[in-house]
Amino acid sequence: MTAQTSELIAGQGLTTTKAPYIEQAVANGDMYIEQPYTLYSEENHDTWRRLYARMQERWERYANPRFLDGLVTLSFDDARVPRLEDVNRFMAPRTGFKAKAVSGFVPAFNFFDCLSRREFPTTITIRDGSSLDYLPEPDIFHDIAGHVPMHTDPAFAETLVRFGACAHLAAEMVSRAGNPAEKLRRLTSIQNALQRFFWFTIEFGLMRGSSSGEIKAYGSGLLSSYGELVHSIEDPSVQRHALQLEWVINQHFEIDHYQPLLFIVQDFEQLFEMVGELESWMKSGKLDNVTPGYRQMSEADAQSFLDASLSR
Ligand SMILES: [Fe+2]
Repeated sequence: MTAQTSELIAGQGLTTTKAPYIEQAVANGDMYIEQPYTLYSEENHDTWRRLYARMQERWERYANPRFLDGLVTLSFDDARVPRLEDVNRFMAPRTGFKAKAVSGFVPAFNFFDCLSRREFPTTITIRDGSSLDYLPEPDIFHDIAGHVPMHTDPAFAETLVRFGACAHLAAEMVSRAGNPAEKLRRLTSIQNALQRFFWFTIEFGLMRGSSSGEIKAYGSGLLSSYGELVHSIEDPSVQRHALQLEWVINQHFEIDHYQPLLFIVQDFEQLFEMVGELESWMKSGKLDNVTPGYRQMSEADAQSFLDASLSR
């Protein structure tokens, strides 16, 4: 990096879509990066502080107890963007999981593969403080405040590792398909199934408490959203059903509005078992013909699995 580039990057902050440091990393082809902590601006820290403060009451009321335990374990500073090394120091002794800084998009196979190795690809930028509510891309508030507290729970962590390992089985299944067209067709179907499962559980899952019977959120998309967390549990228009594998893997979803349909698990042991069922369905070919998606699988996602399938 030239002195001129370093000067340009310093003082610009790490705001989502406006961070020269990230643009440079992407231009260099660096997917895994460092968290250059001193680059966060005071405005970035202030955005974290405001996002974190307003969630407190909502988490107390609507978050799964394991998530609340995770917050205690991780001891975030409520006024400053967390340092990943601090997060990892608290988290690693519990489950071995580590947040790993990335420059942005991670192709699907690599993302799942990281999970299987107890690494969580983590965005380091934070949303623009002028719009706290909606942004289409993940940011450090979603990844660290929404996802990571759950990774301190051993049962949840084991589920995530098992789910991540499904990517290796998917690559294996694709490698066995006959010709390139059939490989791509099978991969697209399996990938739709895996993405939908991830979406309706890890991102938007609900759980019914065993003693109280109350529904609480464990999905990070809900836990990092001030508006949707309440909506997902209180709003009568939301359809909430017990998690069923054949439904979830065939259920299309859209990302740009509150979810109208959500699925409830009893506990993480049940979720772990269901990932096992997902694996055996994949092995027996039952994920090869799920309902097609409306969106095309991205070329980078497809290529990541095809590359992995070559080494089988
Ligand atoms: Fe997420």
